[in-house]
Amino acid sequence: MNILLVGSGGREHALAWKIAASPLLTRLVAAPGNPGIARLCEVRDVGAADVPALVALAAEIAADLVVIGPEVTVEAGLADALEAVGVPCFGPSAAAGQLESSKAFTKAFCDRHGLPTAAYVVCDKADAAKAALDRFQPPYVVKADGLAAGKGVVVAADRAEAEAAIDDALGGRFGAAGARVVIEEFLEGEIGSLFAICDGATHQLFGWAQDHKRAFDNDRGPNTGGMGAYSPAAVFTPELVEQVHARLVEPALRGIAADGAPYRGVLFVELMATRDGPKLVEFNARFGDPECQVLMLRLDSDLVPYLLACATGKLDQMPPPAWSDDPAICVVLAADGYPGAPKAGGAIAGADADFEGVEVFHAATMLDHEGVLRAAGGRVLNVCARADTLQEARDRAYAAVAAIDWPDGFHRSDIGWRALGR
Ligand code: AMP
Ligand code: GLY
Repeated sequence: MNILLVGSGGREHALAWKIAASPLLTRLVAAPGNPGIARLCEVRDVGAADVPALVALAAEIAADLVVIGPEVTVEAGLADALEAVGVPCFGPSAAAGQLESSKAFTKAFCDRHGLPTAAYVVCDKADAAKAALDRFQPPYVVKADGLAAGKGVVVAADRAEAEAAIDDALGGRFGAAGARVVIEEFLEGEIGSLFAICDGATHQLFGWAQDHKRAFDNDRGPNTGGMGAYSPAAVFTPELVEQVHARLVEPALRGIAADGAPYRGVLFVELMATRDGPKLVEFNARFGDPECQVLMLRLDSDLVPYLLACATGKLDQMPPPAWSDDPAICVVLAADGYPGAPKAGGAIAGADADFEGVEVFHAATMLDHEGVLRAAGGRVLNVCARADTLQEARDRAYAAVAAIDWPDGFHRSDIGWRALGR
């Protein structure tokens, strides 16, 4: 099979690593890819939201399957454009992808289809948004409506911070994505990420993990796209998995199909396990980053048949995926300044050394003209490990982190704390 993989982050490096191991693969091309991905397959300098160029590239390589990594590609409508020319695509249409690309859409969707989620108000004027805070207790949760790379959410301890977040979003910090804000009830509980793959009609659960959204140890600092993850996560008892499946996954996939946009691809359910059961925090129309990295380390089955089955409506013919019992962990190395303006360009040494049981995925790197690896974004490297126990996996990952020489970066030193502290 010829496969085109779209994206350039750590999630896509992990997907490329798993796809490259498939016996079904003839040729893998990634666009735009990154230097880590380029060690596994061909990369082409085509942007992840450049739909016409991606469709042309799929035709050029006679792609049997296109795999969408990031949300910007979903929002840009690549799946729709590929459907029009008959190329199978793993990744939802732009209409189905609104489950991620608009929080206001998703809140109304939850009301319409009876999914449990936090109480909320949507506003496009600062005065109204600030007045709406009266209806909630601190801490206040203020979210930009659209895509903001995981940085559009502020959990504010007090009213002044909440009002500043409202002014920030409506004042244009996130561009059009912040033209509306959603103010919502703070949900008390433990957070979790659960994945389901779907072919438009049939679905299967596809693993779960726990992310660490705050920038610094002990869950302090601003929200980020995710500073580390591990899987399996102890919060996912069999009972919770069953509840998330019945109360969130099934009604979401049924609802989006009933709304005329059957879902093909992976639905990422971010939920809070509250005293009253799971409640939706948000949907994403793609794999989690860095959750995907730990899932790929634990997936024993070949990934490609599942991606193809989703793209071609044949998921009912697939057995449930096989997962290793071994836990996996991912530690994100981020550039100083992230999630604000990251320090770019710092040289990185030792990222490609061999560590037992460890994979280092590139999330935002570049090679300069002398072949030196340099930081090129916020989250730069993902150091991932698998072992018999979570403690061992964690020790392996942090030993590899210590061996990487990159003075401009930081990382959390407590990934997996909830599970290890239990
Ligand atoms: P999101 O970008 O929606 O995933 O939100 C980022 C993070 O903010 C989540 O991972 C949660 O830790 C936190 N968060 C978002 N919404 C809520 C909420 N309603 N209650 C409590 N925490 C929230
Ligand atoms: N790690 C959470 C996300 O991908 O949005």
